[in-house]
Amino acid sequence: MPAFKSIEWGEPGTVRMLDQRLLPHQTVYNDYTTYQEVAAAITDMVIRGAPAIGVAAAYGLVLVPANSMDGQVKEIKAELLKAVKVLGDSRPTAVNLVWALKRMGKVLERPELDTVPKLKDTLLSEAHAIAREDAEINRSIGRNALPFIPEKATIIHHCNTGGLATVEYGTALGIIRTAHECGKQVFVLVDETRPRLQGGRLTAWELLQYGIPFKVIVDGASGHLMRTMGVDLCVVGADRVAANGDTANKIGTYNLAVVAHENGVPFYVAVPTTTIDMDTPSGDQIKIEERPENEVTHVGTWQITPDDTPVLNPAFDVTPAEYITALITEKGVVYPPFIENLKKLFTS
Ligand code: MRU
Repeated sequence: MPAFKSIEWGEPGTVRMLDQRLLPHQTVYNDYTTYQEVAAAITDMVIRGAPAIGVAAAYGLVLVPANSMDGQVKEIKAELLKAVKVLGDSRPTAVNLVWALKRMGKVLERPELDTVPKLKDTLLSEAHAIAREDAEINRSIGRNALPFIPEKATIIHHCNTGGLATVEYGTALGIIRTAHECGKQVFVLVDETRPRLQGGRLTAWELLQYGIPFKVIVDGASGHLMRTMGVDLCVVGADRVAANGDTANKIGTYNLAVVAHENGVPFYVAVPTTTIDMDTPSGDQIKIEERPENEVTHVGTWQITPDDTPVLNPAFDVTPAEYITALITEKGVVYPPFIENLKKLFTS
């Protein structure tokens, strides 16, 4: 088991998060006691990864009653509605954030929760349930992917989708971990993932702890390596999958998928069903987050571009469904045509 926890609740009312901005050099845990602080931590990417930010938002809500135990239910509920809005706006692309807040919001509709302690306990149980289920879901995704991983496999992975991006274990990285734990000889080519280097900093940090062999590559190397060294598959996570299978994920995923298609390399998306948004018909309707310019102009505090260089910094892209071999969920594997098969997944 790795010696870290991406997020944890602490009594009487604290959300503790591993500060991912400082990894791999420093392992620092920050404690937050207000939902505004949690929202800012999500925006600043102290915590990141679609499932993890959903859980952070859920625990962030619990801070409202937890730290006002002698308040009035009516006022606390009004504050909770404000908190839902603030947390929901903290990052726009990952649907898990909205999903978790909607699920938590159902608790507010229960009339029997007529005291602040009852409200707090029920919200906390719901947040714990979301966190626990996330860990279980990841393990199921890993098991469902096993048939697609050869006994000896070279795999390209993009961004960070491991225990840091989830409550524990991971989605795409969870697949790689399951294969490794089952004795398969996996070797990972880790896209460094410009500009925030989630691959080079975070995935490398996790893989070292799991003893899984890997090499970090620059994002632009994947095509060359597919042509020259033989790559068996690519596996990535997702921030939002539309009803037609179009998939929003970390910037660079689309390039990787097109190059995989060109080279006949299967391209899998590891995705909890909480990341599938059946209310969004296609990728065209997914809002793509724009991040600050200094993520591109600087590496850490070092400026790498001339002063006043104009920058475009979309944090995600949409991979059209036609480039995706299959979506691997905790409920099973979904193949094209995704429009029909995703509907079946949610009705079966
Ligand atoms: O900007 P980030 O680091 O939050 O982006 C994360 C990703 O794009 C992940 O691939 C995605 O959230 C899936 S994590 C299980």
